[in-house]
Amino acid sequence: MRKNIVAGNWKMNTTLPEGLELAKNVNKALENVDAKCDVIICTPFTHLASVNAVIDKNKLGLGAENCADHRSGAYTGEISAPMVASTGATYVILGHSERRQYYGETSETLKEKVALALENGLTPIFCIGEVLEERENGTAFDVVKAQIEEALFNLSAEDFGKLILAYEPVWAIGTGKTATDDQAEEMHAFIRGVIADKYGKEVAENTSILYGGSCKPSNAKALFAKPNVDGGLIGGAALDADSFMGIVTAFE
Ligand code: 13P
Repeated sequence: MRKNIVAGNWKMNTTLPEGLELAKNVNKALENVDAKCDVIICTPFTHLASVNAVIDKNKLGLGAENCADHRSGAYTGEISAPMVASTGATYVILGHSERRQYYGETSETLKEKVALALENGLTPIFCIGEVLEERENGTAFDVVKAQIEEALFNLSAEDFGKLILAYEPVWAIGTGKTATDDQAEEMHAFIRGVIADKYGKEVAENTSILYGGSCKPSNAKALFAKPNVDGGLIGGAALDADSFMGIVTAFE
């Protein structure tokens, strides 16, 4: 059966000391709760090795927010999947809308990133989602389907089964405007159907699909109660241990 997961995406926030403090606080909070979901924090590259040293990996997973589309070589400033794996991190967010929007990531580069992540034992948390205009002009479902097909449908069923997906409607990210639980459920059910059509019902049923976009303690419970919403990818609310834990404990 698929897992319930709450993952934090810290984005470009926290200095190293601040990040270590936050990671320690989340780790400590998890000692006192019986979490009903897997909990992951995805931090800036600069923090990974240090955070890895201070968390209990049995309770708290660690991931990066991106990796390069090349294995190694003359790509100044890039961080490869093997480098990420060497820090102790075991997850990597790929295809986040901010990467697609501001850094020109395409399905072609994402295909390479997914392959390299898997080759290096990293679990991709692969993001998909439409912008406001696409939601309003009725193409949201086509857009999300194309994002999945173009970057992921070259994978074998076995490799596809290693992915975590995150549906993040771009219009809901950092805007305070959450998709309603019914809107999230409708898209998550659609995504699961797209997976089932390609890889079969079993793979689709076993794929965790997270919701992201202004998820917070006050709305997490209603979102996570939906049958096809298997947890959340959390931005702003992951930057405070108490609010992040408020979302983790939305699973009962
Ligand atoms: P917010 O939770 O800040 O809206 O960000 C969501 C997100 O982009 C997580 O990847």
